[in-house]
Parts: sequence; structure tokens; C-alpha cells
Amino acid sequence: MKFFLDTGNVDEIKRIVKLGLVDGVTTNPSLIAKEGRDFKQVIQEIAGIVSGPVSAEVISLDVEGMLKEAHDIATWAPNVVIKLPLTEAGLEATHRLAQEGIKTNVTLVFSVAQGLMAAKAGATFISPFVGRLDDIGVEGLKLIRELRQVLDLYAMKTEIIAASIRGIAHVEQAALAGAHIATIPGSLLPTLWKHPLTDIGIDRFLKDWEKMSKA
Ligand code: E4P
Repeated sequence: MKFFLDTGNVDEIKRIVKLGLVDGVTTNPSLIAKEGRDFKQVIQEIAGIVSGPVSAEVISLDVEGMLKEAHDIATWAPNVVIKLPLTEAGLEATHRLAQEGIKTNVTLVFSVAQGLMAAKAGATFISPFVGRLDDIGVEGLKLIRELRQVLDLYAMKTEIIAASIRGIAHVEQAALAGAHIATIPGSLLPTLWKHPLTDIGIDRFLKDWEKMSKA
């Protein structure tokens, strides 16, 4: 399974890249706005740190606007991926970009039908939102499982990015459900390697070691 970082924060990325855990990065307008920095500059910085795909989202809602933004963003870095919303315009733009060989990440996927439409239109990645489905009482991980089944059944190459990940259990269950990728908030990823018994274990080993050296 691949791990993407879901963040616009360059420091978070730099910290976790050092551990060899970052296969790519996803951003969205909310994450970029949180940084209060220039969009292009942030994406170019991230794309310089991470060699894998870096998703940058368009904000236009019409096809021509999306394509205009996409063509500009695609020049920012060789590893940039155009993120588009799952709307009729988003699907048309995805299809046209796929024909040009430009990689896309279709976002805000909340049903199997939507995911299938995006894959059929030629999306490189689709982003089903696990946490936001859970928020409305729908099992988000079931969507991941079913999407993987459908993509495999028809040998479609689109990769599933489990998005809107809220905790360790989401990551573990998304891996079991067959997500190709999980995009994880930069603040959450460091909790994945932590366990209280690891800390207690280290403490106990060191205390025993000290006792031995004093004996
Ligand atoms: C996905 O690419 C989105 O950026 C993200 O996962 C949304 O997560 P949220 O529901 O926590 O905002």
C-alpha cells in the first residue's frame, strides 16, 4: 500500500519524507488556504521534495475553466496531478486531460457509481472520502472495498486513494479493504508508528540496563 500525505504543510512533509514513508501528496483548496501561502509556490516546493504524484486541485466549475487551470498547473512540476471534483464538468475535463496524457485525481467520490464513472472517464486516481461518509452514518470503508472489487472485476487501471482519513483504524481498514493508497493528514501519520507498549518497553529495558550497570 502506498501512503500519500494529505497536507499543504511543507514542514510536515519534510519530517516524514526522511522516514521513507511518503509516496505522494494530496492537497485541496482548504489545506492550501490554511497555509496562507501562494498556491503555485506551495505545490512547486512540495513537488521538489516528493518525487511521487502531488495533487493540486482546480477551483473552476466549468469544463473550459478547469482545463485552463489544469494546463497551467501541469506546467508547474513534472509530478503534478490535476485534482478535479466529481461533477459532469469534472468528468469531461478528466476525459480530455486523459486523452492528452495528463494525470488526474477525481475527488469527492461518495458512491461506487461515481467512482466507476471517474475510472471510465480515464481518471488516474479516484478519492473516495471515508471520514465524511462516516460522519453521515454511512460506512466509508465499505465504499473502498466495493470500489476495489469493481475496478478489479473490469481490470481498470485507476487507483483508489482512501481519503478523508481520520484515525489509525481507517488506515488499517483501508489497507485491508484494498485501497491502493491512503492519503493521511500530516498530523495523523506520526501516530501510526506509535504504541504505548513500545514506550513502556523502552523504559523498562533502560531501567533494567541501568540496574545492571550499577550492580
Ligand atoms: C482528499 O484528497 C482530501 O484532501 C481530504 O482527504 C479531505 O479530508 P477531510 O474530510 O478530512 O477534509
